[in-house]
Amino acid sequence: MRLLVVGGSGFLGGEVCRRGAAAGWSVVGTCHCGRVAVPGVGTRRLDVTDRDAVRRLVAEVRPDVVVGTAYRADDWTVTADGAAHVAYAAAEVGARLVHLSSDALHGGRPEPYGDDEPPSPIHVYGAAETAG
Ligand SMILES: NC(=O)c1ccc[n+]([C@@H]2O[C@H](COP(=O)([O-])OP(=O)(O)OC[C@H]3O[C@@H](n4cnc5c(N)ncnc54)[C@H](OP(=O)(O)O)[C@@H]3O)[C@@H](O)[C@H]2O)c1
Repeated sequence: MRLLVVGGSGFLGGEVCRRGAAAGWSVVGTCHCGRVAVPGVGTRRLDVTDRDAVRRLVAEVRPDVVVGTAYRADDWTVTADGAAHVAYAAAEVGARLVHLSSDALHGGRPEPYGDDEPPSPIHVYGAAETAG
């Protein structure tokens, strides 16, 4: 299994990298300003707002699975457009995509939300996660 973790330098992506490597998979993790500090995991620098760079990297790595965790709460182009770039690039190579989002795409009522309820964001970050 070949796994590409977009956002491998982050909290969630780093753990996905660790678990993938521990399972014996070939893992590549991306970073933007930080670094991927997981032994046995290949590292590549990537800006998800650069659609061509995302396509080039995915075409080069040829992953079976892409896990997308990259986001920035204050940057629509990263959270929304970046997610789209990753999704299209994964589709181009026939990779399965797991995109991580947030409960911020809901408004925060007291009762639990169902998995299939339409998003109801109340701030820009939630709207960006919804768009992604
Ligand atoms: N952490 C949680 O408990 C939790 C719970 C529920 C949902 N989530 C969701 O999971 C996702 C990831 O959360 P996280 O806690 O792992 O966040 P995080 O630690 O802040 O990681 C964010 C990742 O996005 C990368 N990134 C930022 N800007 C980028 C850009 N322009 N191009 C490429 N990569 C970029 C960062 O790279 P650099 O650090 O290298 O700049 C980092 O790897 C989010 O959607 C979040 O809402 C997280």
